[in-house]
Amino acid sequence: MAEPMVLAYEERGSGPVLVCIHGFPLDRTMWINQLAGLAKVRRVVAVDLRGHGLSEDPAPAGYSMDLFADDVAATLDEIGEDSADVMALSMGGYVAFTLWRRHPQRVRSLILCCTKAEPDTDEGKKGRDDSAALVREQGMEALVDRLVKVMYAEGTPADVIEAGRRSMLATPPEVAIADLMAMKDREDSVPTLGTITVPALWIAGEADKIMPLDGAKAAAAGIPGSSFLSVAGGGHMTPVEKPAETNEALVNFLKRP
Ligand code: MLT
Repeated sequence: MAEPMVLAYEERGSGPVLVCIHGFPLDRTMWINQLAGLAKVRRVVAVDLRGHGLSEDPAPAGYSMDLFADDVAATLDEIGEDSADVMALSMGGYVAFTLWRRHPQRVRSLILCCTKAEPDTDEGKKGRDDSAALVREQGMEALVDRLVKVMYAEGTPADVIEAGRRSMLATPPEVAIADLMAMKDREDSVPTLGTITVPALWIAGEADKIMPLDGAKAAAAGIPGSSFLSVAGGGHMTPVEKPAETNEALVNFLKRP
């Protein structure tokens, strides 16, 4: 396995760290509203996973959720934090479950957005191979065109979608392919749910076409003592699409006694 690397990040605010982990094939900029809205309660640190955004990776290969989680732990070392609140969306959620398994002492609380605990089905794994072939043969634009259709809920402003498109198109094709293979091979996190002993909040978009609401509710119910928020009209990018509702819940969760 490759060596863990310190990730590039953007930060705002002061106090205990909230580390934010983006989804596929995005970067830290998806957390723009949380960087602004949560800085009053946390030092918000939005990381770029390796190969994404400003975390350059000259030879992307052999990615895994273990490696991504170790990168987050190495980044906490770099900024001198023993532990952090961890917020993660979708693929970032797979990283967060893995961080909990590998480095539980680094996780003060977990906020899981628009994600799932189950591994890929056989059909899902085949879909990863098809997506990788699409990127290899036609480039990122073909993949991003396909993703944009399912990531955002109806009514999402065009400029919000355009910002997401730009960040996804900036992800190198080899990085997207390495992500897809890492997601395809990820571990089942369902058995992990019951082991989570830190406070947890699960946020789901009621209109998420990628992570159905019923599955999200069932997964959240598997985490002892967790809270669940479903956001009306929110899609797969609920923190981006519905920042006010999401941030209100996040501030309440983070300010809990
Ligand atoms: C993501 O948004 O990170 C992806 O939809 C996750 C996935 O494809 O499993």
